[in-house]
Amino acid sequence: MRPRQIKDQIYAVGAVDWDRRLFDGLIPLPDGTSYNSYLVRGSEKTALLDTVDPSKRDIFFENLREVASIDYLIAHHGEQDHSGLIPEILAKYPQAKVVCSPKAKGILMDHLGLSGDRILTVDDGQTLSLGDRTFEFVHTPWVHWPETMGTYLREDKVFFSCDFFGSHIAQSDLFVADEAPVYEAAKRYFAEIMMPFRTAIQKNLERLKTLEIGIIAPSHGPLYGRPEFILEAYREWTSDRLRNEAVVAYISMHGSTASMVDHFVAALAERGVRVHQFNLAETDIGKLAVALVDAATIVLGTPAVHIGPHPRIAHAVFLANALRPKLKFASIIGSYGWGHKIVEQIAAMIPNLKVEVLAPVICRGKPREGDFAALEKLAETIARKHAELGLK
Ligand code: FEO
Repeated sequence: MRPRQIKDQIYAVGAVDWDRRLFDGLIPLPDGTSYNSYLVRGSEKTALLDTVDPSKRDIFFENLREVASIDYLIAHHGEQDHSGLIPEILAKYPQAKVVCSPKAKGILMDHLGLSGDRILTVDDGQTLSLGDRTFEFVHTPWVHWPETMGTYLREDKVFFSCDFFGSHIAQSDLFVADEAPVYEAAKRYFAEIMMPFRTAIQKNLERLKTLEIGIIAPSHGPLYGRPEFILEAYREWTSDRLRNEAVVAYISMHGSTASMVDHFVAALAERGVRVHQFNLAETDIGKLAVALVDAATIVLGTPAVHIGPHPRIAHAVFLANALRPKLKFASIIGSYGWGHKIVEQIAAMIPNLKVEVLAPVICRGKPREGDFAALEKLAETIARKHAELGLK
């Protein structure tokens, strides 16, 4: 995209990446993404807020072609999709100083080879004048690195939030025009990188209550002209509230685990528990992460592979443990050929999940009448446990 005006003397100068389909070599991006950078011209100084992913350097420098001078380069976050072109900006604008949080300074020096004498650090609440415009820096740690901060432009009530409130979605709209798809993309983004830090994010949301925010300008996805939309979503996602939902993630080799899952999911649904069922042979792992934001229970369905869980189940379990969702209950169902240690191995992989493990249902070969009865009982237990928590 070409530079676009947000308000008087405030411009979006970043790049939309319509084609990117994977982030961090891990996170699927079904809708692409954007790397947002902003330019603010004050009466005395000019500031650039973040850069873009180096893969979009040509677009970015074209957008800056008519920018003669930059005094401050605000670096909200050290990850390279925003910081990667800082060295080239510093070379192009020799008078520019990088402005970042104290924790970011070392990160930027180590990741980008920056010299410390080009960096100014700012504390939470500290201000910086551009003449007729004033920045207030707002430290927002753990969204999703420890050094991240945002910038509040007081006169215009714009909060530049970096990854906080971001969404991986490529759009030609500068602002959110349709909230529904952005809600899904923002929730996916939250689930994939911010869910482990819910408590810190709750504190950041409290900190933002001190500001009167008219626009939120994140570093991925469209801007929010109605900030309450995304603030309310974040309050919900970071809250302790759970839903009467179960995630059933499974894989099957010869059909036995699949038939158990089919029976079990029907049993849960019959008891009013909403189920998110994922066949991990084909699943977009981002959708699984989104389902974990609100679910009270996870049930893993796996055959035994060399006595342990199927490696694709192990991958999902590893991810769930890293994301630390609010889950309260977990269980395992599945089938083995001649022997197994499925339950012991999965239990050892989830130290971060503060869950009650409900009696697993593991059978040898094809499930029989007694196994299906055990699945009914497990479904009944889950429905009862959810009811005891008041989940509807
Ligand atoms: Fe969009 Fe943490 O970088």
